[in-house]
Amino acid sequence: MDQQRQERIKKITQSIIGLPTLPTVITQMIGLIDNPKTSAKDVAGLISTDQALTAKILKLANSAFYGFPREIATVNHAVVVLGFDTVKNLGLSVSVLERFAGGSGDTEFDRQKFWEHSIACGVAARMLAGKLRYRVQGEAFAAGILHDIGKLILSQYFTDEFGEILALVRDEDLYIGKAEEQVLGLTHTEIGHWLAEKWNLPDKLVAAIAYHHAPGRLERDAELPSLIHLADFLCRREKIGDGGGPRLPNLDPAALRAFGIHEEPKAALRRIFGYGEELQAEMERADAFTSIARGDDGEAGDGEADGGDGPDDDSDDDPNPLGGSTEGELVGESRR
Ligand SMILES: [Fe+2]
Ligand SMILES: [Fe+2]
Repeated sequence: MDQQRQERIKKITQSIIGLPTLPTVITQMIGLIDNPKTSAKDVAGLISTDQALTAKILKLANSAFYGFPREIATVNHAVVVLGFDTVKNLGLSVSVLERFAGGSGDTEFDRQKFWEHSIACGVAARMLAGKLRYRVQGEAFAAGILHDIGKLILSQYFTDEFGEILALVRDEDLYIGKAEEQVLGLTHTEIGHWLAEKWNLPDKLVAAIAYHHAPGRLERDAELPSLIHLADFLCRREKIGDGGGPRLPNLDPAALRAFGIHEEPKAALRRIFGYGEELQAEMERADAFTSIARGDDGEAGDGEADGGDGPDDDSDDDPNPLGGSTEGELVGESRR
């Protein structure tokens, strides 16, 4: 990052007073996630100290999204059935969702639609992780949920500027990243990067937040940011939620190369778009997440638990060739 940008980000972040904090249990959980010696028992033990979080995790574990036929009654059991990785990342995603749930209906920024985009991106990233053989699906999910967190910060702390940004997106049909550059001189990825570091998120999630629009800038460990880059395209293409206006970002072909895809980018993207229908079906099963984001998750027994859509499909299907069609302007739009 050049010095000018660094100064700009410093100026902007210094003006953020009362940085949004994470609940203690989650800060502790991030510490556990970061430690390779952490056992499943440690994580289950920590989650169990927080009744509300425990209830949420069990509700999600029993939801149609994971589709287990028998009831998961304890966090320990969830760890056994869903896996350690999924449960710890679930804890993180849920607590962030909850921390920022509900809506600020008074601005043009529709927080509900923002979360829908983020959840869709998590669902898409988890799905693409299976297709592209990225091993840690829970991590992909959490990265998708968190990837645009910088936009939330902008909407909350820079209401006027963010209003201007959204107006540019709407009136001049700009891609949101370009509008952010014009108004603030930096983008939501930089603000998100800063916040992710403040929160001490695991390095991989920090990188996914910081580089999801330009994974090619990373010399190594570009897989997760690349996965989110592609997932973001798929959700926008499927028009799920609002990722900041209809304009698509530029495709970074490095995101394809990170998974050993060397075909022509347009064709590769078309293949990824072919998973659109599958994503829509997955989203229908992800209702338990969207209701947390709506902040209306409080009511008991709303039937989430009896999902039973069959076991989670983690198989490595071969990509379905040329499933969809692509918009011409996607690839080849000049990069900044
Ligand atoms: Fe983004
Ligand atoms: Fe996004």
